[in-house]
Amino acid sequence: KRKQTNKGGNDMSFLVLPGRAISFVTKNFFSKTNGNRGGAPNVAVVMVDGWPTDKVEEASRLARESGINIFFITIEGAVENEKQYVLEPNFANKAVCRTNGFYSLNVQNWYGLHKSVQPLVKRVCDTDRLACSKTCLNSADIGFVIDGSSSVGTSNFRTVLQFVANLSKEFEISDTDTRIGAVQYTYEQRLEFGFDQYNTKSDVLNAIKRVGYWSGGTSTGAAINYALEQLFKKSKPNKRKLMILITDGRSYDDIRIPAMVAHHKGVITYAIGVAWAAQDELEIIATHPARDHAFFVDEFDNLYKSVPKVIQNICSEFNSQPRN
Ligand SMILES: *[C@@H]1O[C@H](CO)[C@@H](O)[C@H](O)[C@H]1NC(C)=O
Repeated sequence: KRKQTNKGGNDMSFLVLPGRAISFVTKNFFSKTNGNRGGAPNVAVVMVDGWPTDKVEEASRLARESGINIFFITIEGAVENEKQYVLEPNFANKAVCRTNGFYSLNVQNWYGLHKSVQPLVKRVCDTDRLACSKTCLNSADIGFVIDGSSSVGTSNFRTVLQFVANLSKEFEISDTDTRIGAVQYTYEQRLEFGFDQYNTKSDVLNAIKRVGYWSGGTSTGAAINYALEQLFKKSKPNKRKLMILITDGRSYDDIRIPAMVAHHKGVITYAIGVAWAAQDELEIIATHPARDHAFFVDEFDNLYKSVPKVIQNICSEFNSQPRN
């Protein structure tokens, strides 16, 4: 509520706490148990009388990162001589999903609020522009490129598949959310399943389980080329393309050029090396900076340790994209 200075000179202040309200909404409203539907965009309309008396920036960031499109309607915003009271000038821009004006509306006074109904409805229904519906977990095409060479062995290959499944589990999978595909390679390559083959998480996890161990050589360069052709060529334009390559040895063929092509095509490439994998190759395959995209573990039993690291990285990279 507006901070008013009355004739007596004493301040009457009222609390307007949209920051706290946004935190509350993020935690409580948009959960499955409260009826949240996957696939339908999440929208929060925040109405502020005057200006916030708490901070909105951090709470809004968390809301955005969990996929909530925040709209700000400011009613009777601060006039010139009141701006000194505003804790965060530009608070609406700190909160909204994009700072391009689409997400914020100013209303002169409460009597004029009804005039914002039409424009607001129009924007909320323009789902293509609800950019915050996209999160690190629901907006990628992820292609796994799996080394099935002889040195891996049947038992370790199962561990690799478990690793692929554990990573996949973290994402929201459907035909409109994240999609998963997989290629296995030795000297040769084969498409295990493409992005459009399965569109539920359980189908994807079952398909991963069914991948049969091939055994053979290690042509990692050819495998990257193959994945670009067979998987990523069929990626949707609005999806982030992520390649996660897992290998346990040095490649028999050149990886430099295939890796360059992948990076050039905008495929964000993670290289996960196990045991005999060559660190220098991992760093060439991985997207720059290598420390964020190349991971090495000394044995298959330690692969599980990279799961949270890879997820964390995918998400922090996604969330560090510019917001305007
Ligand atoms: C996969 O997840 C299961 C269950 O959390 C865990 O026991 C296993 O060690 C994980 N394996 C890998 C390779 O990530």
